[in-house]
Amino acid sequence: MNCPDHLRPEAWQRILNFAERKETPFLVVDLNTIREKYLELVDGFKYASVYYAVKANPANEVISLLAELGSNFDIASIYELDRVLSHGVDPARCSYGNTIKKKRDIAYFYERGVRMYATDSEEDIRQIAEVAPGSRIYIRILTEGSEGADWPLSRKFGCNPEMAVELAVLARDLGLEPYGVSFHVGSQQREIDIWDGAIAKVKVVWDRLYNEYDIKLKMINLGGGFPAQYIQKTNPFETYVQEITRFLSEDFPDEVPEIILEPGRSLVGDSGVMVSEVVLVSRKSATALERWVYTDVGKFNGLIETLDESIKYQICTERDGEEEEVVIAGPTCDSMDIMYENHKYTLPLSLQSGDRMYWLATGAYTSSYCSVEFNGFPPLKTYFV
Ligand SMILES: Cc1ncc(COP(=O)(O)O)c(C=O)c1O
Repeated sequence: MNCPDHLRPEAWQRILNFAERKETPFLVVDLNTIREKYLELVDGFKYASVYYAVKANPANEVISLLAELGSNFDIASIYELDRVLSHGVDPARCSYGNTIKKKRDIAYFYERGVRMYATDSEEDIRQIAEVAPGSRIYIRILTEGSEGADWPLSRKFGCNPEMAVELAVLARDLGLEPYGVSFHVGSQQREIDIWDGAIAKVKVVWDRLYNEYDIKLKMINLGGGFPAQYIQKTNPFETYVQEITRFLSEDFPDEVPEIILEPGRSLVGDSGVMVSEVVLVSRKSATALERWVYTDVGKFNGLIETLDESIKYQICTERDGEEEEVVIAGPTCDSMDIMYENHKYTLPLSLQSGDRMYWLATGAYTSSYCSVEFNGFPPLKTYFV
């Protein structure tokens, strides 16, 4: 098997050597790749602070590495908060980035020292003001164009810019500090121009608050959305840096505000290789042109992002020779446990049960998305090298 383009040959070899001795299915995460991705990010966006979106891979090994490298943390629940703080991270390096939160959870964050909260609704702001008085809030706005993202996020979160203005004013009146605006252009966003439109919307909120209400915001949170290496091509990371930096300086020519990034997928995705075993190869009739390949990972133990075939992982096997179209499905008795049927993957004709399949760039949104024991299958094991 050739080394994939997004991994260093030594990382690929390290993973393969490790994988040889383990029983499938499992995920191997190469921590050195995460380190390199983090360093590439902070080198590209020198002017930004990174808040790692813990949800992408909340493993202790990942948190500990990123904490040591100086990352901050975007946290979605009290459970993630406990995990991050258990690594000795200063709560000042954490934000509560989920706009959907219980009042008692806001209080929990506040008691532990977190002072920065995302919000997009009046009720949430009133609750923050009550139990996290004086805190900084940033308002998440809706963005358009999430079609360019393989895993869109926008509709569930955010409010329109008009409402963002009203919420910032309310926050100030309730004694909070309206600190900034955030957005998320959708995960695995392949259209860089979407950031342009989103930053332009931030600018409208920014200027209205200053000109009409004397509120001077300080921060823009550009969210995540940067890509990992799946089947569909993306621009190189440097192009994201150049273009987004240009959009910012065009809209904020006098002084670029404090910038926060919240990457998840792009930091940890490429570091993972999931290894599965072929359980069965079959055809549905004697003349069927495509084979069905059933393997021991599926939607319920790591590959939930294949829903609607949204994320298309690169797959390789140790077999070579002539290839033919396949449908790829998981091991459970649920008929929605089919990963790829419309997108035509091809795999070697010689593939048979017992062979291994290597799912590349599976370090993000896999292990933490597993069901606990659907059909009795345990969650995916994860190893770190
Ligand atoms: C608030 C927030 N920030 C950041 C992220 C991470 O995004 P990505 O994995 O695309 O980098 C997410 C993903 O769901 C999110 O909801």
